[in-house]
Amino acid sequence: MDTAIQTAPRKKRALSCIQPTGIPTLGNYLGAMRNWVNMQDDFECAFAVADLHAITVRQDAAQFRRQIYEMFSLLLAIGLDPEKSLLFVQSQVPAHSEMAWLLACHTQFGELSRMTQFKDKSANHADNINLGLFAYPSLMASDILLYQPDYVPVGADQKQHVELTRDIAERFNNIHGKVFTVPEPYIMKSGARVRSLQDPTKKMSKSDENQNAYISLKDDPDAIRRKFKRAVTDSEARVYYGEGKDGVNNLMEIYSSVTGKTMEEIESEFEGRGYGDFKAAVAEAVIDVLRPIQQRFDQLMKDKGYLERMMKQGAERASAVSRRTLDKALKKMGFVLV
Ligand code: TYM
Repeated sequence: MDTAIQTAPRKKRALSCIQPTGIPTLGNYLGAMRNWVNMQDDFECAFAVADLHAITVRQDAAQFRRQIYEMFSLLLAIGLDPEKSLLFVQSQVPAHSEMAWLLACHTQFGELSRMTQFKDKSANHADNINLGLFAYPSLMASDILLYQPDYVPVGADQKQHVELTRDIAERFNNIHGKVFTVPEPYIMKSGARVRSLQDPTKKMSKSDENQNAYISLKDDPDAIRRKFKRAVTDSEARVYYGEGKDGVNNLMEIYSSVTGKTMEEIESEFEGRGYGDFKAAVAEAVIDVLRPIQQRFDQLMKDKGYLERMMKQGAERASAVSRRTLDKALKKMGFVLV
């Protein structure tokens, strides 16, 4: 009998985070969060509420605290399992801020100036273009590199930040010796860029001033029906995927993403039917996907004790993992550890 021990190949690692700046949109969910749930069995995963990132714009303390609980609940409600994946709140793991300083000293001014998120946010908050907003990608690189992931599952808008993280990791490894795994962005084709329902040239964003532009994961069925009904389309009244049909393309992508149907299947389903029918079908499909998440979310928000126990467990585990990487980086740089 063959007694050789068969060791299973190490599972690849994945890490991602989301800011607790309001209830996530359908864009966050289809572009990122839903993929995290699907990755849990095949990857060793870590997911965090990136609360330190949220203070780059002003937050009201009471509302901010509630949003942190809400986002943590939502991670559980969508199906992330704390027994399978590492789930934690960023600010409860001190290594993130410490590593951010080390990495800030390996990030160039020019690189940060080219970040589109920085350019957009400084245009939207012209009265508060703070150092944190500028240095945001160094903190994001810390979130990632501390956990040595192979992949970072994000929506398309975060690709630039993950690419900068790769550059920072390579630079650090070249100067000091290998500390970091150089991760790759992991972007799904379907749902990677869900667009605004009111202006489909823009991404769907929870900070949009026009509430009709986005579906929030907490929207009730009536709100969802109303928002899809008002979604911008075109005057052609024919459902097909094509150039100059940004609004319809976006609705088709959403429908495809929640039902698994291909564009061709959707086109034949709505052949000879107008936009009214189509929009109603998209709304019902989205309502069906969100209903169980909303029910679980409401239950979880009633049990703060459970949420805090899960946060504490996550913070302890994440602190142990991240401390190892931080110590390794400090040692390589010549710091004295006692
Ligand atoms: P955030 O909080 O803005 O968004 C969370 C995730 O949702 C994705 N997303 C979208 N995907 C498709 N269509 C959309 N309209 C849409 N809007 C948002 C984002 O790409 C993201 O994956 N900087 C990050 C948070 C962060 C992070 C990290 C991510 C902090 N540290 C480390 C990965 C790894 C952010 O602001 O995401």
